[in-house]
Amino acid sequence: MYQFIAGLPKVELHLHIEGSLEPELMFELAQRNGIDIPFSNPEEVRGAYDFSNLQSFLDIYYQGAQVLISKRDFYDLTWAYMLRCKADNVLHTELFFDPQTHTDRGISFDTVMEGLTQALLQAELELGITSQLILCFLRHLDEASAFETLQQAKPWKQEIVAVGLDSSEIGHPPEKFARVFAEAVKQGYLTVAHAGEEGPSSNITDALDILKVSRIDHGVRCVDDPQLVSRLIEQQIHLTVCPLSNTKLKVFQSMEQHSIVDLLRQGVSVGINSDDPAYFGGYMNDNFAAVASSFHTSHLELAKFTANAIDASFCSIARKAELHQNLQHYVDSQ
Ligand code: HPA
Ligand code: ZN
Repeated sequence: MYQFIAGLPKVELHLHIEGSLEPELMFELAQRNGIDIPFSNPEEVRGAYDFSNLQSFLDIYYQGAQVLISKRDFYDLTWAYMLRCKADNVLHTELFFDPQTHTDRGISFDTVMEGLTQALLQAELELGITSQLILCFLRHLDEASAFETLQQAKPWKQEIVAVGLDSSEIGHPPEKFARVFAEAVKQGYLTVAHAGEEGPSSNITDALDILKVSRIDHGVRCVDDPQLVSRLIEQQIHLTVCPLSNTKLKVFQSMEQHSIVDLLRQGVSVGINSDDPAYFGGYMNDNFAAVASSFHTSHLELAKFTANAIDASFCSIARKAELHQNLQHYVDSQ
């Protein structure tokens, strides 16, 4: 099974670039930038990754991101992730980045973008991996800060395909960002949002109706509302599900209790993603393997996760056709 997964072409649609910061690189950057971190070695950092819920993770995740200072740091972070994509046969990836995590520390929006885009361009040229960038607003911050961030993105409009919404879901519902998202749509951005990860299924409905999202990030709480599940199936609204993230953050107590395979078999368009792989114990192949080993998934079911992600991606029609062809060729060869 693992061999089938390793060779399977993959598309990742839910990855926070700051969440791919491995402890070794965290140490290297801390040293390079003269920043104190409260750990003495990478193993100690890993030992601290024991989360009880989303917030307990976010506190550590924002702390880790403080070692990112220069364009070179953002380049190194992104290049390391793209090499992991190559290793896991990820052919296309859509990355979230959290500008406010950096601009609030005095790092310019341009510094972040310059580092990210240099690595992504190199990955396309040297590794053949295509990508898109999604700007995420931190939902625990206010509307004014999100508007300011949207303004800072203006010179980079061509490099950013969509805006998204992440961070603490409980207490920060989609309607808090209704006006920012309306402005983003007006400026020509697509929209996505984390919804129904820890928060109620009504956040999924509101993200669709108020924020006009093209797909939902996580969305696993949809199972609490059968009418919503019917809508997701009917309208083929894609959920970017993150299995290892959900078990690490106790959204599900174990992988066996995860709803992803049930949703797939009901006809919901679900995909498999790694979310914050450096914190949750694995990249794409590990997430696929965790699902495959907990459920009796067939090769065709595993391939369907990729097919769903291709259809829900923001790449060109031509690239989608190429990715489908690649997938079909692999399935036929097995
Ligand atoms: N949920 C919300 N915010 C996040 C996540 C997540 O899984 N990862 C990084 N920021
Ligand atoms: Zn996420």
